Amino acid sequence: MVNDIQNNLIKKESIFGPDNYKPLPVVLSKAKGVWAWDVNEKKYLDMMSGYSAVSHGHAHPELLRVFHEQSSKLSLTSRAFYTDTLGPYLETITKMSGFEMCLPMNSGAEAVETAIKSSRRWAYRTKGVEPGKAEIIVAEGNFHGRTTTIISFSSDENSKDDFGPHTPGFITVKYGCSKSIETAINKNTAAVLIEPIQGEGGIIVPPDNYLNEVREICTKHNVLMLLDEIQSGLGRTGKLFAYQHSCGDCNCDVGCNEDQPKESKPDGLILGKALGGGFMPVSCFLTSKEVMQWMDPGSHGSTFGGNPLAAALAKRSLELLVEEDLIENSRAMGDYFKECLLSMNSKIIKEIRGKGLWLGVEIDPNYVSGKELSKMCLEAGILCKETHETTIRYAPPLVITKEELDWGIEKIKAVFSKITS
Ligand SMILES: Cc1ncc(COP(=O)(O)O)c(C=O)c1O
Repeated sequence: MVNDIQNNLIKKESIFGPDNYKPLPVVLSKAKGVWAWDVNEKKYLDMMSGYSAVSHGHAHPELLRVFHEQSSKLSLTSRAFYTDTLGPYLETITKMSGFEMCLPMNSGAEAVETAIKSSRRWAYRTKGVEPGKAEIIVAEGNFHGRTTTIISFSSDENSKDDFGPHTPGFITVKYGCSKSIETAINKNTAAVLIEPIQGEGGIIVPPDNYLNEVREICTKHNVLMLLDEIQSGLGRTGKLFAYQHSCGDCNCDVGCNEDQPKESKPDGLILGKALGGGFMPVSCFLTSKEVMQWMDPGSHGSTFGGNPLAAALAKRSLELLVEEDLIENSRAMGDYFKECLLSMNSKIIKEIRGKGLWLGVEIDPNYVSGKELSKMCLEAGILCKETHETTIRYAPPLVITKEELDWGIEKIKAVFSKITS
């Protein structure tokens, strides 16, 4: 229950800040691993993970060490100078991902903007699209961030209402339908931009062969295939990248390399969230030299993008995914979690979607709303939140152990039973 201490802090947020979020009524003050505590020392299992940004768990000891060490040595220089951390980070991320080049940014939305700008330049300067005519195909129900250009192609009216005029040059097609992409392509099409699994859209998993078909269509029409893996990437779905679920018999654990089948490897990949190890905003756009060649001096940049602290943290965050087997843990714990939820046989659960430790539980609103269910989970010691009114997202840090997950499953079970009893 919210007491006076919490109430005062909650009030301060809405007196001095706008209500552009609707947080659950809890005031958190510390966290470690998969656990978080509120100001009254009540303990919660974090199944939200900062919208999937805290994959390594809170205050991971190795990342904390890097954070302390690097910030006491060199944290911010701007890109006016070279640093001794950026090159090694770029080398690590390009090798792991199998892309030739990486352009570092901070927030996810900035990395999406970078992908849009890069692919438009490629369209004009390499493909030969007429000046000012480039188009990008996007999917219905997408979520790619909050900038004025990105909201221009959102299908969520509330996120774009009265923020116009909107940026032209985006064509929206049905998600999961490759045919509609092919129909929308014309001589001005620069790129197709999609999420391999739609996260904020409600953990929507497209048909199995969707990405392979999109890959084929993009290649056939000389259009860039861009995947936004800001939320789905870096182990969240039980593969390094979610698109690798459609990569045939790939046994590669750490990303694409030359020997790997490439049926769904995109031309550009957008990463963020967990790249910062839960410490700070770190994002990037990965692509080929052919596309990146046009991002020349003065074309694009960011004061903070690629800063020494971010570079050191991101490099170590990537390495830890492999060293600590977090990708495999996500797959194994995710499968186990899904099985346990299914075996509850709860009348409330209509469907469970998702892969790895990224599950969307579709609930029957006749029993409970998503908002009410999130609140009940909170009372029971589980941090989670609805995405859309009837989908509850469970996405604990990828470091979660079976014992910790069992603790959470027992609590969730009790909440579901209480609703139907
Ligand atoms: C798929 C996807 N793209 C982009 C973003 C935007 O990232 P950020 O909030 O860091 O700008 C998000 C955030 O949830 C996301 O899930």
